[in-house]
Amino acid sequence: MCRPDHFAVEYVINPWMDPAAGADRGVAIRQWEGLRSAYEELGHRVSLIDPVEGLPDMVFAANGALVVGGRVYGARFTHRERAAEGPAYLEWFTSNGYGAAREAEFTNEGEGDFLTLDHLVLAGTGFRTDVAAHKEAQEFLGRPVVSLRLVDPRFYHLDTALFPLNGHNVAYFPEAFSAGSQEVLRHLFPDAVIATEDDAVVLGLNAVSDGTHVVINSEATGLQLELKRRGFEVVPVELSELRKAGGGPKCCTLEIRG
Ligand code: ARG
Repeated sequence: MCRPDHFAVEYVINPWMDPAAGADRGVAIRQWEGLRSAYEELGHRVSLIDPVEGLPDMVFAANGALVVGGRVYGARFTHRERAAEGPAYLEWFTSNGYGAAREAEFTNEGEGDFLTLDHLVLAGTGFRTDVAAHKEAQEFLGRPVVSLRLVDPRFYHLDTALFPLNGHNVAYFPEAFSAGSQEVLRHLFPDAVIATEDDAVVLGLNAVSDGTHVVINSEATGLQLELKRRGFEVVPVELSELRKAGGGPKCCTLEIRG
């Protein structure tokens, strides 16, 4: 995770961002600390990367890389505003003992657009990550990568429209995907949790599940009910200030898979 010490809404690279309205950094830091303690209380280990001045979106650590089986596939950002984050995250991995860290040839925004299940990796495209990066990741990681097309600019990263509930099932908002990709999702996950637009527009799908607990935006109340009904333990967090940049719990979290 990356503390939002330099967080701000200074430019527009997604429809959630409004520099005129801005965001309150103090509130963002407090809310982010709440997310970090939620993970620690659940027994997860949180490692931190030093925030870099001039990179107001660096708090969104999910975008920094994709880590599967200890292999680190580096990010290459779409927008120049965030370009320097790629090397910063890669440098964290190499200096923390991840030898198998690789600089990407193609544009990709790490776990923002790549979500890992037991037997496959789901990959978003349409707004940020290039399909060529899906292929590159598949070759590098040795896991099947399934491409999904995003069509609604509010859900510009895969992790804003879908999250893995565990190693074999997901929750998602169908309308964020092209007709063909909706069909692929129905085929792969017949028992998926289907979210409503009300839950999607508060970034309720930008959640993190460890298979038992789901850390999720507090406003996504319908989705929380359904998750409880399915036997998950719901851990609501308040991240409204980060949402002003288009992010939620998952965006703030890069999951390091050994
Ligand atoms: N303002 C950031 C951007 O548009 C938000 C990134 C959110 N991260 C995510 N994994 N969805 O790039």
